[in-house]
Amino acid sequence: MDLADDALMSQMYAVVVAVRCFERPHFVPAPEAAAVADLRHIDPGESTHLWGMWEEGTLAGVLTAWLPLHDNVDTVWTQVDIHPDHRRRGHGTRAIAALVDFARENTRARVVAEAHYPADRADDHPYRVFAERNGFRLGQTQIIRRLMLPVADDLLAEIAQEARAAYQGRYRVEAFGEVPRDLWPSLCACMNRLGSDAPSGEIDWEPESLTPERYEGFLDLDRQTGRVRLTAVAIDEDSGEVVAYSELALPPGNSRADQWGTLVLTEHRGHRLGQAVKVANLLALQANHPDRVDVITGNAHDNPWMVSINERLGFLPLELCPAFYRTLDTP
Ligand SMILES: CC(C)(COP(=O)(O)OP(=O)(O)OC[C@H]1O[C@@H](n2cnc3c(N)ncnc32)[C@H](O)[C@@H]1OP(=O)(O)O)[C@@H](O)C(=O)NCCC(=O)NCCS
Repeated sequence: MDLADDALMSQMYAVVVAVRCFERPHFVPAPEAAAVADLRHIDPGESTHLWGMWEEGTLAGVLTAWLPLHDNVDTVWTQVDIHPDHRRRGHGTRAIAALVDFARENTRARVVAEAHYPADRADDHPYRVFAERNGFRLGQTQIIRRLMLPVADDLLAEIAQEARAAYQGRYRVEAFGEVPRDLWPSLCACMNRLGSDAPSGEIDWEPESLTPERYEGFLDLDRQTGRVRLTAVAIDEDSGEVVAYSELALPPGNSRADQWGTLVLTEHRGHRLGQAVKVANLLALQANHPDRVDVITGNAHDNPWMVSINERLGFLPLELCPAFYRTLDTP
């Protein structure tokens, strides 16, 4: 698909939104302009590729693939979206065949895809059946949780105070709308550990290679799409560097907030910094963006630290986000 073709991108958006909303009443899509701008974003670290599956002139499905270019270069990230009205006609299977060809052409040995479905269908949901029929294995399952806002001020104050007692004197915690530029290198170094440090089941990840230049590109994209990014960081008083962070993304056009990454560098764990940055960001969210009604987060089921803090804040399970992977014979 030509990403520059506005009419085609409108059709693509309609199909993908129909898929995302199907049997998921809690899902709120991003506006079209923001979703298309995200796909069109030129990131030197990752390229984006789209294909359409057509049925008698109607777009029936969309295959999206992302190629990491500087790290995890054995992998293709993918999303297969077949419109609910066009399923069980082989489009999904044909999309996977095209994807495997693309992966081989790009010397990738692994394809990874995520899905969303209810926890009570974990073993036999159609998306899982489809994935396994197409040679994928379930590699890891995240549990998606939702926190209804506002969280009681005294609970946030209590959690923040507990954390402060453990880190004060050695670290300071700050919440930013835009992180000062001098902190970008150490912030990027933290972000690069998220994929490799968080539990990921059977799917291993190398550290990523986000640079301040690429990060600036993502901030420009936020401004272009109207997305607001809140970042809380913990700074080591000795080095002046970021050693922990947590990000919330506030999408345009709706009243939700998405919890993105939270990470504490290994050598700085044990001082409640994860708890500190998460709560600092929630406090900033509630103080400055009272229009937001809920926060969505996803955690590996085997990440007890993160899950326990989320449960204490009041997050409740919503659905599963399984990750499937298929390894290919190396070309
Ligand atoms: C999963 C998805 C891509 C399947 O698309 P599709 O075009 O219906 O897939 P196919 O017609 O090629 O189905 C291939 C096989 O998968 C299995 N399958 C697919 N849907 C199924 C269902 N609802 N119930 C049981 N098995 C199903 C069947 O074995 C099917 O073969 P069959 O029709 O000969 O029995 C589609 O439902 C979708 O877009 N889901 C949402 C996005 C998603 O989760 N994508 C990623 C999954 S890795």
